[in-house]
Amino acid sequence: MTMGTTTATAYSTWLFYYSPTCNFPSPRLAPRRITLRSRSRTSTCLSAKATSWQMESGILQKGIAEFYDESSGIWEDIWGDHMHHGFYEPDSSVSVSDHRAAQIRMIEEALRFAAVYEDPTKWPKTIVDVGCGIGGSSRYLARKFGAKSIGITLSPVQAARANALSAAQGLADKVSFQVADALNQPFPDGKFDLVWSMESGEHMPDKAKFVGELARVAAPGATIIIVTWCHRDLDPTEESLKPWEENLLKKICDSYYLPAWCSTADYVRLLESLSLQDIKSADWSPYVASFWPAVIRSALTWKGFTSLLRSGLKTIKGALAMPLMIEGYKKDLIKFAIITCRKPK
Ligand SMILES: C[S@@+](CC[C@H](N)C(=O)[O-])C[C@H]1O[C@@H](n2cnc3c(N)ncnc32)[C@H](O)[C@@H]1O
Repeated sequence: MTMGTTTATAYSTWLFYYSPTCNFPSPRLAPRRITLRSRSRTSTCLSAKATSWQMESGILQKGIAEFYDESSGIWEDIWGDHMHHGFYEPDSSVSVSDHRAAQIRMIEEALRFAAVYEDPTKWPKTIVDVGCGIGGSSRYLARKFGAKSIGITLSPVQAARANALSAAQGLADKVSFQVADALNQPFPDGKFDLVWSMESGEHMPDKAKFVGELARVAAPGATIIIVTWCHRDLDPTEESLKPWEENLLKKICDSYYLPAWCSTADYVRLLESLSLQDIKSADWSPYVASFWPAVIRSALTWKGFTSLLRSGLKTIKGALAMPLMIEGYKKDLIKFAIITCRKPK
């Protein structure tokens, strides 16, 4: 697909003016056990207020599938097979070659946070990778634990590429990928020891159904790990986000095929409502601060720029929205959240 003049002008203006620097508040990594406020707050995504995406979830699904069909090749070309944030020590200066290591660190930190390592006899044997991209997490986890993993994605291009990469790496008997909807998973109840959702929750138009499906396919005693984009928790005095915050999120939603967002506290409340145990959450925003500036820097290279021009309008629109993510983090509106729990035995 060729790029129109307007898009080309917008892109070059953005390249010229954008300065990829980011200041974050001090880190708050430590896992915190949730204590519910007496007065519960429900964010817009859980209320009756639906976005146009939610009202037409078929259109949303089609948009997500096309977005990843179109953009996964360029991402893999430049960043490899993990389509998620890296985990960086705040204020460390990171060289581009460290980003893959940072993405692996994200997986390792998530496992550690959820205490998956503590007892090797309890390592997962069956894993579901919900919103699997091209299967980076599945292959890593399958190798690490000697487990079998099944990944689901809305993108046929991703599922095919994930299967091809796995076969090429001799993992075809351990991991497999298919096109399926996370909100209606094609698996029986209680099938998986580890339910893994790395940066797919933000695409889900019905968070209650999403969490319900994660809990349903989890085996008794299984660990559920959700790493996802949230908006900030609301204060007790607030009924909703501020108008400027809603506007910023809406622009991001339009570019990345996202429905309305919710807060980390909303996820915790959903997990509690399903009587899940050991619920923990943390704000890892300070640990991903280097990520978007690094993605932008990679888009500024000749290879990044030319690949982007060839990729298609959805990908270019996504690239143009990257500074909005940085703005959202900087203004304390966007939170990179981890939420984990265990299904009772
Ligand atoms: C940002 S990518 C993350 C990919 C992968 N987890 C990783 O870390 O490399 C988001 C993924 O969520 C998937 N996704 C979004 N909505 C979905 C849904 N309703 N059902 C299944 N997959 C979905 C997309 O197809 C895509 O593979």
